[in-house]
Amino acid sequence: MAEVQTHEHDVLIIGAGGAGLRAAIAASAAKVSVGLVCKSLLGKAHTVMAEGGIAAALANVDERDSWGVHFADTMRGGQYLNDWRMAEFHAKEAPACVRELEAWGALFDRTQDGRILQRNFGGHRYPRLAHVGDRTGLEMIRTLQDYGIHQGIDVHMERTVIALFTDADRIAGALAYDRERGFFHLFRAKAVVLATGGIGRAYRITSNSWEYTGDGLALAYEAGAELMDMEFVQFHPTGMVWPPSVQGILVTEGVRGEGGVLLNKNGRRFMFDDIPENYRAQTADNEEEGWRYTQGDRNARRPPDLLTRDHVARCIVREIKEGRGSPHGGVYLDIAWIRKRIPDAEERIKKKLPSMYHQFKQLADIDITREPMEVGPTTHYMMGGIRVDPETQMSTVPGLFAAGECAAGLHGANRLGGNSLSDLLVFGKRAGDFAARFARERTLGPLAADRIDAGVRRALEPFQPAAPEAEGPYAVQEELQAMMQDLVGIVRHEEEMRRAQEAIGKLKERAARVRVAGNRHFNPGWHTALDLPSLLTVSEAITRSALERQESRGAHFREDHPSKDPEAGRFNLIVRQDGAGSMRVERRPIPEMRPDLKKIVEENG
Ligand code: FUM
Repeated sequence: MAEVQTHEHDVLIIGAGGAGLRAAIAASAAKVSVGLVCKSLLGKAHTVMAEGGIAAALANVDERDSWGVHFADTMRGGQYLNDWRMAEFHAKEAPACVRELEAWGALFDRTQDGRILQRNFGGHRYPRLAHVGDRTGLEMIRTLQDYGIHQGIDVHMERTVIALFTDADRIAGALAYDRERGFFHLFRAKAVVLATGGIGRAYRITSNSWEYTGDGLALAYEAGAELMDMEFVQFHPTGMVWPPSVQGILVTEGVRGEGGVLLNKNGRRFMFDDIPENYRAQTADNEEEGWRYTQGDRNARRPPDLLTRDHVARCIVREIKEGRGSPHGGVYLDIAWIRKRIPDAEERIKKKLPSMYHQFKQLADIDITREPMEVGPTTHYMMGGIRVDPETQMSTVPGLFAAGECAAGLHGANRLGGNSLSDLLVFGKRAGDFAARFARERTLGPLAADRIDAGVRRALEPFQPAAPEAEGPYAVQEELQAMMQDLVGIVRHEEEMRRAQEAIGKLKERAARVRVAGNRHFNPGWHTALDLPSLLTVSEAITRSALERQESRGAHFREDHPSKDPEAGRFNLIVRQDGAGSMRVERRPIPEMRPDLKKIVEENG
């Protein structure tokens, strides 16, 4: 049996994006020992893909903003499937989290009078996104990392966690391998925080990089935790579509926040053609008013390009399907048009959207100050995830916490842009605080050696001699991604999802026969083989939940059930293992909203 190196921490944090780093800082401030495990290098996280800003009701640009309006916007965006207690914590605590980040060194863009500048984003009533050009996520990671490394946190880089261990009644540790040498590491811990991010790699077109294979969700599910809202996958409306090698890379919503508009091949602003009834009162019905809104006119209504992401993505798909798309299968996103309106447009674009300018110049040879971009939807974010207690972030497994994208609840059926960065600050902190509290009251749990051996044996199975029916890991991964993209994507249908369910079953059998060549030293084929079980678990959970939700709501659109069903608005879908280890999906009623919060929603409708 391969050797296993053991590490001990009071709190183990798995994932080092914004939520993981924030949790690590909180736990170490509580004076417990903290281990932070990163799947890749510290600082390389999907957090950087939240480019446009952090949503927080600071009211620096419009004093009418408040936590209550932010709460109401979040609930409406999530189509009221959100955990309203999480939405309340989030809206109330986000401003302090942003100020704290600033105190730790984040260099936000400023208003004329020196306060943190805030920009418009889809679904937010007032300019609410504190930002650093179009590199907000990057600045957040930089700040948390710079601050965090001085807090005595032990960082374990390039380690992929492949199993969690529980003892009788709580979490006890985790097993990982390191990418470079293929060595195994056992982490014993009193509490574990999962902050592993999303599942984007279950799809072919995604803004997520290779790390995002749903590990945290699958680990929690296997450990007996419940998942929730798995049918809600966010397709960001604007990813790059050309050239093929960069398809899916994010084009920030900040482009539209700064006045960029969506056009079809006929030059028509098609977003004016379909404004949902519940947003009609807040949405401009002509170009002039939309432009004034993006330029800060407080009496103007938002342009329809800034409606919620689920809606904008579907409108783009409609244009493409009906033959009005761009040459490479997208639509146009035009910020260059503002040259007609303002004399210093070129400087303004380069200043407010520097990453977008360079991204298009270098990857597509497009100068966005002069030409429109070609864009199309890209799998960006998972609203569903591990079900957690709203206050403590603990899952249904004692001692196992989750924060950020891998946790469910805050966003309901659709997340508003910018609410992810605030989510991971608010709930990363809470998870770290409560995990430390949990750990302080306990000793390390026992861990049976045979379970560790079994975990190692499973991980080494792909090195068994190739059998006649052996499979390659990449073929299985690519087929899964293509299938999820085609059959469980933006527009869904029962018949297609039944086919997907069958295909997942077959892919599971093939994944069990995957064999790889070479040895354990930096072996991407082996790493891909070990990612497959997580990808398959989350794909199955998404597909089963999407079949069960027989209505269209938020990011989940059923061609065969195109309307909202008021009954279905009263429950979340929970995914868990049954006694025999099979996946079960069940309905769980949403608790009645507190009357004071109901009133806030009504007043801000
Ligand atoms: O478009 C963006 O900048 C993405 C932001 C987010 O996902 O929150």
